[in-house]
Amino acid sequence: MPKPERPRGAVIAGTGRALPERVLSNADLEKMVETSDEWIVTRTGIRERRMVAAGEDNSDLATEAARQAIAAAGITPDDIDHIFIATVTPDRILPSMSCTVQQKLGASHAAALDINAACSGFLYGLQIAQALVTTGASDTVLVIGSETLTRIVDFEDRNTCVLFGDGAGAAVIRPCDAGVGVLAVKLGADGGQGDMLTVPGGGSQKPATHETVAAREHFIKMRGNELFKFAVRAMESISRDALAEAGREAAELTALIPHQANQRIIDATAERLGIAKEKVFMNIDRYGNTSAASIPILLDEVVRDGRVKTGDLLELVAFGGGVTWGAAVTTWDPQAAWPIEAREARTSIAAVKTGAPA
Ligand code: ACO
Repeated sequence: MPKPERPRGAVIAGTGRALPERVLSNADLEKMVETSDEWIVTRTGIRERRMVAAGEDNSDLATEAARQAIAAAGITPDDIDHIFIATVTPDRILPSMSCTVQQKLGASHAAALDINAACSGFLYGLQIAQALVTTGASDTVLVIGSETLTRIVDFEDRNTCVLFGDGAGAAVIRPCDAGVGVLAVKLGADGGQGDMLTVPGGGSQKPATHETVAAREHFIKMRGNELFKFAVRAMESISRDALAEAGREAAELTALIPHQANQRIIDATAERLGIAKEKVFMNIDRYGNTSAASIPILLDEVVRDGRVKTGDLLELVAFGGGVTWGAAVTTWDPQAAWPIEAREARTSIAAVKTGAPA
């Protein structure tokens, strides 16, 4: 990869999303657990969520979202240098889902890696992409947030099954002149709070056995009330850090694009930051909490329906299991991406298989 000749920024050059067709409404859940539409709407803001069908995989959603982002960015799968997928619900433990999606896309020059940072995963991927692109280590990064949480939710546990949904969002990150695009990404984590949201069974610490399955330990367990308080404090704090690093004020933001975990968490965070309600974008009523996918799904929606315009200043902010949190400040300037250039030979699957140059 050639070294950068002029100062490089990193810009979101295109986005995409994919949602399963099947809708699971609050009325459907009322038939499964002791709950009510009224409780779910007032406590969370969720009215319905999407659910994958039998045979529909997380990697299918991720691939569809990626195809849309690739088209929007005006590139081809062949141009991609790195694929990062943020997910806690990969198709399989091994191989990584990024490798599966690399194959489905035919992105034969791309390195591929999964990221596990729960709901903050897309922002973790964005910071890695920004670092690789601005240093010249990568020219084109595909960052995907993609989840099939309904596959690890216990539909006998009303504390969790009403919250989560399935979906995927994707973004292509490309070089641009410094000063536009992704201005700052700040991240945090506190492993000491990890037990607030966990899947206790099925990992190497407690491999799946008849006993772990009987105890329903392969499903999500959550201490929602503690997470709620932590989430508001962390999202406020990291949002301020990212704005400070970008040299911007909250008052300059055109839009806040928050992770969609709970309407009340988002309202409280926006209020603490002094951001007016009409600048806070939401779709939790239709999709619930799609973890790592929620920010790129929402970003793609508001870009495609014209609510975000060229030159707008956006802040993306998330909080999730781990626990992890993050915020990014970016301008919306996809046309600032540098055009794809002819490149020197790159490692490709064909070269590795045949021993011939790419
Ligand atoms: N229907 C009816 N009642 C319910 C339901 C339900 N679906 N779920 C819980 N309740 C009951 C509880 O049992 C409790 O009853 P009790 O007082 O008799 O014990 C009562 O409602 C209140 O429970 P709380 O947990 O105090 O309710 P709260 O107002 O905190 O809302 C919620 C719960 C929605 C889970 C909220 O705490 C929340 O959104 N937390 C944050 C979730 C989050 O951000 N997760 C992290 C990101 S996810 C990721 O990383 C994958």
